This record gives sequence, C-alpha cells and structure tokens, in this order.
Amino acid sequence: MHNFSPGPGILPAPVIAQIGADLPEFGSTGTSILEVSHRTPPFEAVIDEAERNLRTLLKIPADYRVLFQQGGASLQFAMVPYNFLRRSADYVVAGTWGKKAWEDARRSPPITGTIAARVAWSGADEGWSRMPSDSELSLDPDADYLHYTSNETIEGVQTAHVPATGAVPVVCDASSDFLSRPVDLTRFGLYYAGAQKNAGAAGVTVAIVSDGMLERARQNGLAMLSYPTQVAGKSMHNTPPCFAVYIVMLVTRWLRDEVGGLEAMADRNTFKAGRLYGAIDGSAGFYRGCARPHHRSLMNATFRLPTPELEAIFFSESESQGFVGLRGHRAFGGVRASLYNALPIESVDALTQFMAEFARTHG
Ligand SMILES: Cc1ncc(COP(=O)(O)O)c(C=O)c1O
Repeated sequence: MHNFSPGPGILPAPVIAQIGADLPEFGSTGTSILEVSHRTPPFEAVIDEAERNLRTLLKIPADYRVLFQQGGASLQFAMVPYNFLRRSADYVVAGTWGKKAWEDARRSPPITGTIAARVAWSGADEGWSRMPSDSELSLDPDADYLHYTSNETIEGVQTAHVPATGAVPVVCDASSDFLSRPVDLTRFGLYYAGAQKNAGAAGVTVAIVSDGMLERARQNGLAMLSYPTQVAGKSMHNTPPCFAVYIVMLVTRWLRDEVGGLEAMADRNTFKAGRLYGAIDGSAGFYRGCARPHHRSLMNATFRLPTPELEAIFFSESESQGFVGLRGHRAFGGVRASLYNALPIESVDALTQFMAEFARTHG
C-alpha cells in the first residue's frame, strides 16, 4: 500500500517494527509498553528521551518548555486564548484550521473585561490559494499575540516565513508540518503541533512555549487548560497519553539517527514534493494544483482533475491499485496527496506513474 493519508498519517517502518517488539514486553520491565505506569523510571526515561530528541532536532532554546498534552491541536485553539487573550489578538486565517483557531478565540472566556479576536488577513476571497506577505497583514501593535497556521492541511498552502510582528509574540499551529524542516523557535512565544502527521500517533500534542510567554499566561486558571499548571506538572499533572508519547520518542529517534536531522528531512521533503508537483505541472493541464505555486504545501499537495466524475474514477482506480488516503477533504474536494516525513519516495514515484497513465487513458 502507498499511504497518502492526511492524518493520522504514515509512520516510519522501523517505528512500527519497534512498537511490535515493545508491545509484549518493554525492555526488561516484564510488562507491555501499554502497562507501564507513568510514575515509574521506565516511563520517565521515555518522556525524557522524547523531549531530549525534540530539543536536539529543533534546537529548542534552554528557556523554552516542552509539553506533551492531550486534546489535540484543537484543544490548543482553546488554550491559547484562555491563557493569553487579555484584550485583543490577531489571527491569520489562511485556511480551515486557522479559521477554527480564530473561532475559538472569539468564544473564549475573558481573563478580564472584553476581548477581541481580529482577522489580520483572510484567504477566503482567493479560495484559500495562498499565504499572505507581511505587508498584507493588518496588525495591532498592542495585540496579545498573533496566531497563524504554518501549513493548512486541507487546502494545501504552506509558508516557511514567520510573520514579522515586532514585540507581539507569535503563536504557530504547526500540526501538519512539524519536524518537516528546521525552524527558528526563538521567533515564537508558542509553537504547537498534534503528533499524528509527522511526529507519531494520535493522542498527544507537543507544545513548545517560552518562559517569557508563560509569564503572560492567566494565573489560577482551570488546571487542564493552564500552560503554567501543565509546565509545573512536567506534562504529568494528570496521566499523560503514555503510548503516544512513547511513539513520539521512537519517531524523533528515527529522525535523529536514521534520517540525520531536520535539514536532511527538509531535503527529502522538497525532493518528494518537487516530483509530485512536477507531474501536476507536466500534465498539460489535466491536473491543476489548487495552491498558487509559491504557496504550495510540501506536506499536502492538493489538485483537481477536469471534472468531478473523472475524480471519482481516479479515486476508485487508485484505491484498487493500493493508494490510500487520496480523497480531498469533504469540504474542499479534489485530490490531496499527503507527503509526510515517513512517506518513501517510491510511493511518490508510484503515484506519479499512476497519474501519467490515468491522464493518458482518460485525457
Ligand atoms: C493544521 C491543523 N491544525 C489543527 C488540527 C486539528 O488537530 P486535532 O484533530 O488533533 O485536534 C489539524 C488536524 O488535521 C491540522 O491539520
């Protein structure tokens, strides 16, 4: 099978093999990895290594904390305003996920007084086909923070640029391009990602937050929603998603030891995406990319065929030939090929061959 699923997505084969080995007995514990208590040295070693690997891969500065949390990136949509929105925050809405984050900010219970969640830029009028440049952002210089989504998973637009906001802290939802390339974390107050695309399985969200940002957080808030409480509990204020944290440990170990770090990962990802977009652009218009070329996602390539009827045939034929997860999101339509870190180049080549043959026979 060739797994192009948008998430939960493909995991590295050596990681699946290691999980298989650790399921009956984890190390010399005499118990399955599923049966290890979180308050024991074997699990402490797991969560410590997961954090250490992330710190190495992302060069996380010493004054940043790493959290492993439940609730998905969607809970971060609620936690960000709950903790940091005192008066007004700016949201870049470049796709479905940025919009959902903004909607939760509007609904957030105020810390004091009234709150506003402003749209600093929206891609709606252009069919979610691109990311904004800094000069297009309508920024409030006194905003509590600016929130943006570095890769819009559904529409397939991505940016490597961190918005220039002056003194306003930047918060990023990096769920679908986490660990796909190096990032300069010093540019962020908070950087978060659900694990189930590039970092592991569903069930855990990594949040990397600066000490400076933590100082701004709501104090004495509801425990499970409070970054300071989660940091004080070292991600163990309550039972953490142990199995999912363990998989993050394995995936980050694979990235460090077998891939060779995030620069090498970024090179692979650029190469893979180049192959697929090359096939789209070389199809004489049979396949049409949804995003504008400079804004194309290296993680989720979205494209359309000449008609919805042909797309339906494309899905059924590709599925019968072993391709999984190519149907676009139900709200957006078209084809979406997700090219996460663990997807081998062989799968991309198999897809481009299938696409060429499909265009030849149906074009
Ligand atoms: C960019 C982005 N943000 C947020 C989410 C929501 O994540 P979750 O379902 O883990 O809450 C997703 C899920 O696909 C996503 O791709």
